[in-house]
Amino acid sequence: MASTQFDLDSLFELACQAAQNSYAPYSRFRVGAALQLSSGEVVTGTNVENVSFGLTICAERAALATAVSQFGPGIQIAAVAVANLNRAASPPCGACRQVLSEFILPDAPVTFPLADGRQTMPFAELFPLAFNLPPKED
Ligand code: THU
Repeated sequence: MASTQFDLDSLFELACQAAQNSYAPYSRFRVGAALQLSSGEVVTGTNVENVSFGLTICAERAALATAVSQFGPGIQIAAVAVANLNRAASPPCGACRQVLSEFILPDAPVTFPLADGRQTMPFAELFPLAFNLPPKED
C-alpha cells in the first residue's frame, strides 16, 4: 500500500476497510488492522478463520506478517489501528500484543474500539511486560 501521512483517524478508516475482507464464518466477528510503519508505509490485515478453530489468524498478526513479507525484517511499527464491523470492543488480544511487541515502538499509539467509542493508548501501556529471551551465554 502507498505511503500516507501519520493520522490515526485515517489509519482507523483503513482498518475498517480491511475488515470488509474478513473471513469469519465461525465467529462472524469481522476484524481489520492497519499498521503505520516508521517508513510511512501502511499495511493492513484481516482475520482469517479456520474450521480447526485454533488455526485462526487474527487481523493484527495477518497485517504484521504482510508488513514483514513486503518490507523485510527491519520494519518498525509507529502506530496501530484495530477495527471491527460488529460495533463491539476489540483491543488486540494477548497473543497479538506479544507478536506486535517484537516490531513496535514503545510509544506507538494503538487505537481500538470500545463498546462505545474508541480508545487510544501507547503500546507500552497496553503491554508492559513482553516475554523476551535472556541474553545467550556463549
Ligand atoms: N480476532 C482478531 O482478529 N484480533 C484480535 O485481537 C482478537 C480476535 C479475531 C479472531 C477470530 O477470528 C475472531 O476475532 C473472534 O475471536
